[in-house]
Amino acid sequence: MTRATEPAAERAPEVFRRAFGTEPHVLGLAPGRVNLIGEHVDYNGGIVLPAAIDRQVAVAARWRKAIRIRMLAVDRATDDELRIDTAPARGEGWARYVRGIATLLVRAGYPIPGADIAFAGDVPVDSGLASSAALVVATAKALLALAEVEVEPATLAEICRRAEAEWVGVRCGIMDPFVALHGRAGHALLLDCRSLEHHHLRLPDGVRLVATDSGIQRALRDSAYNQRRTECRLAAIRLGVTDLRDISLEDLERRGHTLAEPLGRRARHVVREIERTRLAAAALAAGDIHSLGRLMAESHASLRDDLEVSTPELETLVRLANEVHGVYGSRLCGAGFGGCTISLVAADAVKEFTRHVTQGYRKATGNEATVHVLAAGDAARWEKLAEWKGGGL
Ligand code: GLA
Repeated sequence: MTRATEPAAERAPEVFRRAFGTEPHVLGLAPGRVNLIGEHVDYNGGIVLPAAIDRQVAVAARWRKAIRIRMLAVDRATDDELRIDTAPARGEGWARYVRGIATLLVRAGYPIPGADIAFAGDVPVDSGLASSAALVVATAKALLALAEVEVEPATLAEICRRAEAEWVGVRCGIMDPFVALHGRAGHALLLDCRSLEHHHLRLPDGVRLVATDSGIQRALRDSAYNQRRTECRLAAIRLGVTDLRDISLEDLERRGHTLAEPLGRRARHVVREIERTRLAAAALAAGDIHSLGRLMAESHASLRDDLEVSTPELETLVRLANEVHGVYGSRLCGAGFGGCTISLVAADAVKEFTRHVTQGYRKATGNEATVHVLAAGDAARWEKLAEWKGGGL
């Protein structure tokens, strides 16, 4: 048996050996992410401030002289096992992500060989920490390693985004795969989602990134996410711009009232969130964590009131977090509609945070919250585990 406490990078090769009875050749590794601020703005051409985390999805892969990719995930659910012979069928569950990225890489002309792959992950699933982007990126890294091809990270991020958007039907933005491919330990990533210009901003040493999982499954999340996207698109069209990013705060003051609700509120969230993200990046660069925390709180209020993607459980988590001394800021993280909050917590307050929030949450909701104390981690990469012959199919 593999122990769940072992990191995914160690578990995946073991899962592979048990499944296929041979050694994997490569390991693709990709992190999940938290987002400090800049929520629901990536698909509006805006600016985001996420960080890759020190939790990963690991994909162990072996080159095969065959036209098939066989895949397996052992640690997701007892019978979560699937083998495919042809990539194009759409499949179920996690397999859709793997099929999607394998197919898009082949279509993009990369010489992806046949392979056996197995994966394991430490990124909490369905929590708003981008575990699906991590799976897609780690699979891409492993398959490209077997193909002996390097793809420029920004190009690869876009292919990975399409895998999720086109194959799984969540019309997500570029943030998650991009930060998985560009993250740096100890740093957040300021990313302009339109120009893809980006730079790293150091996070202060004494602060922890704490994700608290509400444990609520997000049944309507995908359709509600797509609906927000459509509303933002409609608002942009009515305002005569390509993206809501092209509306200034002043423009919005002047013309926002011409939008019917809820489009007016959606636009207000996006335009103000982009401004908040700019201010947050400046605050972080200046080492002003208190201002960053205040902006996170404003972001949360806007996500709740204007974008309407919060839930009673997330509200409880944010309220409890704000009661703890040493919490700079707390907000819902990712798409919303359940999942996690992200809190910036002084290292020496983490213990009290965990106690207060988990107890308070249990009392208020009857549910269990899970606290993940995270650090900013490195970008996706691959490792060679053994030699292989390679060549054509
Ligand atoms: C999900 C999507 C991202 C982004 C966030 C909200 O995580 O995958 O592209 O839109 O929601 O900021």
